[in-house]
Amino acid sequence: MADDNQMRYALRPMREPDIPQVAALEREAFPTTWPPTSFRHELKSSIARYLVAWDTQATEREVNEAIGALTNSQDVASLPLGLGKVGALVRRLFSRPAPPQPAEADLLVGFVGVWFMVDEAHITSIASKESHRGKGIGELLLIGATELAHLHKTRLVTLECRVSNTVAQNLYKKYGFKIVGRRKGYYQDNGEDAFIMSTDPIESPEYQRAFGDLRRQHSERWGVSSRYV
Ligand SMILES: CC(C)(COP(=O)(O)OP(=O)(O)OC[C@H]1O[C@@H](n2cnc3c(N)ncnc32)[C@H](O)[C@@H]1OP(=O)(O)O)[C@@H](O)C(=O)NCCC(=O)NCCS
Repeated sequence: MADDNQMRYALRPMREPDIPQVAALEREAFPTTWPPTSFRHELKSSIARYLVAWDTQATEREVNEAIGALTNSQDVASLPLGLGKVGALVRRLFSRPAPPQPAEADLLVGFVGVWFMVDEAHITSIASKESHRGKGIGELLLIGATELAHLHKTRLVTLECRVSNTVAQNLYKKYGFKIVGRRKGYYQDNGEDAFIMSTDPIESPEYQRAFGDLRRQHSERWGVSSRYV
């Protein structure tokens, strides 16, 4: 937590320049997801909203390094297989690295995606950067997603979660999610089942009270976060 009681990490809507970093966060957190999410498509979707957590104390150099590393690796990854790709790799091996560009983005440390369907807010994906876990960022993302759901006047927040993913389940249970169903063989990589988890109605006085307490505890523990959802 910062001395001035501000949380180091802040929340804002995802923008197009964030796509390479969010795609990298997805690859790190969900390495078996295939095909990868088309964030370009998601950003244009009328039912989807994405929030990113960013490091307010990252230096311009750190931002540039993170973005530069992704830009370099993506150039090669996006080429078709064959001589072009080999040629690009050879050029990379023998050429000087591209100079860092001025920061046009923030250093991202997490993201959450929400689809608004009928009267439900469905969390499609939530992840914090592996090196930054256990610092309240997962909670910050879930708080932001729930605030978004509140703004959209949805009745519930729902999601699916691997039955083996007890870390994520702990986070959701802390925020009042209950297991309300199970989808057999939901995950294609290993045939694992998914728990369907859901909150109680988020407008109910009980939920509002509990959510208010959790937000306050989060601020007391990690500092007051800047959240623009
Ligand atoms: C799940 C995930 C988003 C949590 O993010 P995080 O930034 O580490 O979470 P926080 O630091 O805010 O922790 C919030 C709560 O999560 C739970 N949690 C976090 N780390 C945990 C751990 N190592 N063991 C058990 N519970 C844990 C706890 O309930 C914790 O609250 P507490 O600190 O009061 O105990 C993160 O582990 C992640 O990105 N995992 C990979 C992607 C993933 O599995 N996403 C969920 C798909 S359903």
